[in-house]
This record gives sequence, structure tokens and C-alpha cells, in this order.
Amino acid sequence: MKEQLEKIRQAAEQELDSCEDLNVLENLRVKFLGKKGELTAILKQMGSLSAEERPVMGQLANTVRAAIEEKIASRVQILKEQESARKLVEETVDVTLPGKKQDMGKLHPLTVTLNDIKEIFLGMGFEIAEGPEVETDHYCFEALNMPKHHPARDTQDTFYINENVLLRTQTSSVQIRTMENKRPPIRIISPGRVYRSDTVDATHSPLFHQIEGLVVDKGITMADLNGTLELLMKRIYGEDCQIRLRPHHFPYTEPSAEVDLMCFNCHGSGCSLCKNEGYIELLGAGMVHPKVLEGCGIDPEVYSGFAFGMGLERITMGRYQINDMRLLYENDMRFLSQF
Ligand code: DAH
Repeated sequence: MKEQLEKIRQAAEQELDSCEDLNVLENLRVKFLGKKGELTAILKQMGSLSAEERPVMGQLANTVRAAIEEKIASRVQILKEQESARKLVEETVDVTLPGKKQDMGKLHPLTVTLNDIKEIFLGMGFEIAEGPEVETDHYCFEALNMPKHHPARDTQDTFYINENVLLRTQTSSVQIRTMENKRPPIRIISPGRVYRSDTVDATHSPLFHQIEGLVVDKGITMADLNGTLELLMKRIYGEDCQIRLRPHHFPYTEPSAEVDLMCFNCHGSGCSLCKNEGYIELLGAGMVHPKVLEGCGIDPEVYSGFAFGMGLERITMGRYQINDMRLLYENDMRFLSQF
């Protein structure tokens, strides 16, 4: 029995010394010291020993157990230390390495321009009004003095949903919605999407954005319109820009005008950018037609107003000298990241 105990001690020491894994170590502990382990098996034979031998063997068995336990404990300690040393090396963070660059998002140029325009008008005491993109014939045309079969409708080829419902072709519809619901003084701008059945090219898109403006009060004149638009354009295009009002016709304004910006390239003398005009057409405007006011229950003998409608794309393209409208919709990061 003594030899057997010695053998177990030697085997245990050998195996434990060469063990490199904490899981394997646990298996070894069970193998040598567990209830069904080798040492326990030997102790079970104690009954067959003589009364003198028994305490001697018992003591020896205890010494062997203690030695194995101690060995296991020191091995655990060593393996744990090795493990943490290895982790320290493996998981070292080099704080001197350059960081991972996070791409920052930016506002789209159309959004930047719209935000600027909103700020300018809010500063002049305007409110921002909204209207639906799916609109009725009444608000989009009829109430704007464009009855059915009016030739002015032809310039805005429309996506009809049915005879009376359509995708709005202009934000002018919001003028009517506002005047039907509010009494003067009225000062609003209304930005939003509009739709026309146009083929995509450098200056056309079936979906684009307009900003409508409307002021109705006592004593409003064309001079107020001129002053408001001049201030807007100076803020957007710079203090030295110049605008001009050129006679035009819209069914819902009288008189009507188209507003042009003096070409920033040639300053009015004519160049390829302005097609030799010296001016670039910016927007439509005019004094709200008495019939339109009346239709909304506002007395044209007491009140007058001006209105204008501009394309956000056109304003943005002029501002950043973008020559193709499609660039604004294609979301090419090489283009967008320039702003
Ligand atoms: N609705 C016009 C268009 O889409 C723009 C416009 C012209 C709006 C004159 C107005 C206006 O309010 O008075 O081309």
C-alpha cells in the first residue's frame, strides 16, 4: 500500500507539473482526490490492514493528499498568472495609434438654403404655413382664378388622381388655405414639395420644391413686395446683388411680375451663364388679385396683398453655382460632401 501511495504521489506530481490548462487541472484533481479518485480507492482498502499498520498508512495517505492539494493550488496560481500575463500582452491598446474617423453627416444644400430662407422671413415677422401635397382642384387652380380649361393650367402638366384631386403643382394653394382660415394681417411663407409631369433634365424634375409667400394687410403695395424680395436676395446672394421686377402675367396676381437677379457672373452685361440676358429669372410674384381675395372672404376694397412663389432648387443652384438640378437628387456623396 505504501508503494501504491508513493506511486500516486509521483504520478500526480508529474501530471500536475506538465498541466498547462486550468480545466485539465480540475480533471486531474477529480482523478486523484475525488470521491471516485485513486487516493480514495486506496483508502477503501484500509480495512484489510492490521491495527498497527492502519494509523501509519492513514498518516501517509494524509501526507500524500496534502502534497497533491498543495501542488494543485500552486499550479492554479501559476496558470492564472500566466493567463493574465498573456492577456496583458494580447489586449494591449496602443493609445498612440490614430483614432477611427467617424464621418459626420451634413445638411443637404437644399435644406441649408431652406433653413436660411425660413430664418430671414421669421426675422421679418412671417409665420410658416403648411398645406397638403395631395390637393384638390379648388385650391390648386380654381380659387387662384384659374377655372377649368384656363390656358394657364397648360403650363403646369399635372399628376391627376381623379378629376378633382391632384398632386399640387404649386404651393400657391396654401395662399388660399391660409386666407380662408385667417383674417389679415397675414404674413406667411409656405415651403413644400410640388409635382409636375415634366421629364427629368438639367433644369426640370417631376418633383421639386417651392416657397410661397403671402402678405395681406391694409395698405400693402408693390413697394412692400420689392423691399421684401430685395432684402431676401441680399441675404442669400450678398449685399451687392440686384433684382429687377419685369411685367408678367399670373391669373392670381394683378399686376404680376417676374423677378430677376442681376447675373453675378457678368453684372448685367450679358454672358453665357445668363444666356446674354444680363439677368437670371428667379421667381414669380405680384399683387394678390382682387377676385382671389374676395373668393376667400377678404374685402379687396379694404385689404391688399402681395404674393410670390420661388423654386428652392433654382435659388440653391444660383447660390452654389450648380449647373445641373439632378445633382441635388442623386445623393452622390462626392457632390454632397462639397457643401
Ligand atoms: N405659382 C407660380 C409658379 O408655380 C409662382 C408664383 C407666381 C406664385 C406669382 C405666386 C405669385 O404667389 O404671385 O410658377
